[in-house]
Amino acid sequence: MPWPSDRDTELFAAIDREVERQNTGLQLIASENFTSPQVMEAVGSVLTNKYSEGYPGKRYYGGNEVVDEIEDLARERVKQLFGAEAANVQPHSGANANLGVYLALLEPGDTGLGLSLDHGGHLTHGSPVNISGRYYDFVSYGLTPSDERIDLDQLRSLALEHRPKLIVAGATAYPRAIDPAPIREICDEVGALFMFDAAHIAGLIAGGAHPSPVPYADVVTFTTHKTLRGPRGGCILSRAEHAAAIDKAMFPGLQGGPLEHVIAGKAVAFREAMTPEFRDYAGAIVSNAAALAEALAGHGFRLVSGGTDNHLLLMDLRSFSEELTGKEAQVALDAAGITLNKNTVPDDPRSPFVTSGLRVGTPSVTTQGMREPEMAEIADLMARVLRDPADEAELAAVRSDVRTLCEKFPVYG
Ligand SMILES: Cc1ncc(COP(=O)(O)O)c(C=O)c1O
Repeated sequence: MPWPSDRDTELFAAIDREVERQNTGLQLIASENFTSPQVMEAVGSVLTNKYSEGYPGKRYYGGNEVVDEIEDLARERVKQLFGAEAANVQPHSGANANLGVYLALLEPGDTGLGLSLDHGGHLTHGSPVNISGRYYDFVSYGLTPSDERIDLDQLRSLALEHRPKLIVAGATAYPRAIDPAPIREICDEVGALFMFDAAHIAGLIAGGAHPSPVPYADVVTFTTHKTLRGPRGGCILSRAEHAAAIDKAMFPGLQGGPLEHVIAGKAVAFREAMTPEFRDYAGAIVSNAAALAEALAGHGFRLVSGGTDNHLLLMDLRSFSEELTGKEAQVALDAAGITLNKNTVPDDPRSPFVTSGLRVGTPSVTTQGMREPEMAEIADLMARVLRDPADEAELAAVRSDVRTLCEKFPVYG
């Protein structure tokens, strides 16, 4: 064999430690999940060896008969899953999927509208630190202060004022359902294209737990690794009229050789998402988030918008403690085996590195099989940590209780 025969113990010991971390702690990061063994088998396959620049039937290199079949399978499955006219499964990530759409549909300097980062939008929706904000002229819309939901009146008046070529909906930290119908109406009124970034909620849409933007939007982008529970990657669905431009933008416009091992993993995940079990799973993600929200509110945490319709909730820590920052809370919870991320709340006076809030998501714990009773338990564990994050004895006690809880719900058997 041409490869070293000794095991890379340094690297694999680190992976073993990560397995241990994932198995024994609560994974509450809203954008993470536990993907299936079959998805991992596909991602770990010999497909990683193959160069396949181009698209099925139109590749630059030979030897792509099998890869063509696999990529076609992924495309057909995802079109069926979401009822879409066209699909591109090559984006290496959600960020690349969004960039591919901009490259396909916009010229540098064109105007777009996106939800502002500090109201829950994503960096790729026009943030000045991201290429989307540097190459395109994005204007931000926000939430209505009173109910912390997307301000459609503001969105409409900004659209009338700026006449964007593209309106982007979708979010990274927004706990409510996004109704695509009124946004389509605004797009039609001002002659804008409509892109819906469903990165977070793709699994909820596939499982019927969130309204589908596909009938309304010109383009729907998403990541395959969040609620959809597939491998790390991106995908673009579009109306047939945009398909050629999007394909050309992804390759040769933006990326090189596609990651066909990941595309195979996406194909597996799309099939899994068509099952009745996945519908139950998507419903359980949402009911778990609602139960967790209620239990956390019972402990005195204010929730942005008063609750959740989807897989995540945003805790505003200031109602619990004026001094406690998201940063301190994240560190203390991590020490107790509860992993989540600090997050700004709307109009947060603290910086994004400090924040006044936490984002909490239920996709991973729902995959493990946890349900409402465990959500109440998780809220209790979090409150115990946050009452006094400096109490190391309590942190250690919670760490032990977290481990006991997780042992009852082993992820991979
Ligand atoms: C709404 C939204 N779009 C795009 C992305 C980018 O996805 P990726 O991290 O795969 O580039 C994210 C990631 O969190 C997201 O939340």
